[in-house]
Amino acid sequence: MRVSLRVNRTERTVDDVWPGESLMFTLGLPGTKNACEQGECGSCTVLLDGLPVCSCLVAAPQAAGREVVTVEGLADGDRLDPVQEAFVEAGAVQCGFCTPGLVVAVADLVRRSPHATDGEVREALAGNLCRCTGYEKILDAVRLAAARASP
Ligand code: FES
Ligand code: FES
Repeated sequence: MRVSLRVNRTERTVDDVWPGESLMFTLGLPGTKNACEQGECGSCTVLLDGLPVCSCLVAAPQAAGREVVTVEGLADGDRLDPVQEAFVEAGAVQCGFCTPGLVVAVADLVRRSPHATDGEVREALAGNLCRCTGYEKILDAVRLAAARASP
């Protein structure tokens, strides 16, 4: 089947989509990482009509006519999104496999709840697993991004 959707502000049409195919697979973008394919790790997080979802759990046809933003769509050309900058500055990137999904989730969190407490941040990011950082640097990055978003 054919699926048309908007990805990172660009109209896109994909042919030969299997109806059960995941949005993650259909996107085929390097920043939408496949780790568990079961909705457990958050590495495939994208924004679907502005809300974070695990793209491995969304069937591609469900995204037809909708707006998808991936980590690639957060940057403005060569200019990183403030959340991406905060991750770099806080040292929140080690192997980097979890990073794109976390950046998308944090960008959404900072936009919706710039004054979230550490507990609220931990709860909001509970679906994004990181095997490397111990999460403290990620929390630092969230605090930095939130402070810059609401000076
Ligand atoms: S690959 Fe989608 S949640 Fe892990
Ligand atoms: S930085 Fe390696 S899994 Fe998070």
